[in-house]
Amino acid sequence: MLTITPIGRTLGARIEGVDLSRPLSRADKAAILRAFGRYAVLCFPKQSLDPVQHKAFAREFGSLEVNVAAGHYTVPGHPEVMVLSNIVENGKPIGLADAGQDWHTDMSYSEPVAFLNVLQAIKVPFRDGVPLGCTEFLDMAAAYDDLPAAIKMRIEGMTATHDFNKFWEEMLKRPGTQRKPLTPEQRAAKPPVSHPIVLTHPISGRKALYCTVGYVTHIDGVSKAESDELLAVLFAHQLQEKYKYKHLWSEGDVLCWDNLWTMHNAVADYRPDEHRHMRRCQVMADWVFSPEAKALAAA
Ligand code: OGA
Ligand code: MN
Repeated sequence: MLTITPIGRTLGARIEGVDLSRPLSRADKAAILRAFGRYAVLCFPKQSLDPVQHKAFAREFGSLEVNVAAGHYTVPGHPEVMVLSNIVENGKPIGLADAGQDWHTDMSYSEPVAFLNVLQAIKVPFRDGVPLGCTEFLDMAAAYDDLPAAIKMRIEGMTATHDFNKFWEEMLKRPGTQRKPLTPEQRAAKPPVSHPIVLTHPISGRKALYCTVGYVTHIDGVSKAESDELLAVLFAHQLQEKYKYKHLWSEGDVLCWDNLWTMHNAVADYRPDEHRHMRRCQVMADWVFSPEAKALAAA
């Protein structure tokens, strides 16, 4: 029997009583889908998924992304499974060591955008018994609800441009980064895209602020001055402490988060010799907007 235990103020629930390495029952899949709409960040503790099982579970909720920066950071033979790791073997990094280390929403620069990140903790760094490398989340539905009425009216119907390269360029400025500037081919594969600033969640029906500081470069159809002014307001608003939920990792956690109404940040508070090793699948927001998903959530 699957149990769902809320673990945060608004975001965050722990789900037990389901083995993600096996096919999901329809009832469990429906319960998990509803839980994304209600808690956004779901932790499934004590799991152990090989790359095939990892993909099969993630694939239940939409099609899987092959990251533009993939190549040698994916599991051999599994281009949909990315390795996030600071482990270096024979002088070579075995994964992307600095993924997500600032506030962002996964794949908002894509069409379709991402629904879920399914991240499995293989190795978690600890110091003095305390887990390091936590992941923080912000509730963008609560942030939307709290906006002054005048701003809600102003952003209704507006779109913003999201650019993969914005986050990448910010990371390139960090000392010691292993990233290299994107090649023209990589940039061409991810041209900037526009999305509405207000996103209605397909499962909960709630509105969320979809305007992540990590990727949004400007608001469309207004002057640069107006765009800069409004973005400064929205960025400051979305980053408030009161929207935050912090996940402290345990090895064996599969943490799945709904990107449609959250932002997140990977906290880089561990040293190169303190190893953190994760495997990730990104689920696109295609199936979740289908009538089938709606029917399942209502079942
Ligand atoms: C990601 C990401 C956060 C983390 O995989 O997109 O932001 O804590 N990861 O590893
Ligand atoms: Mn991310």
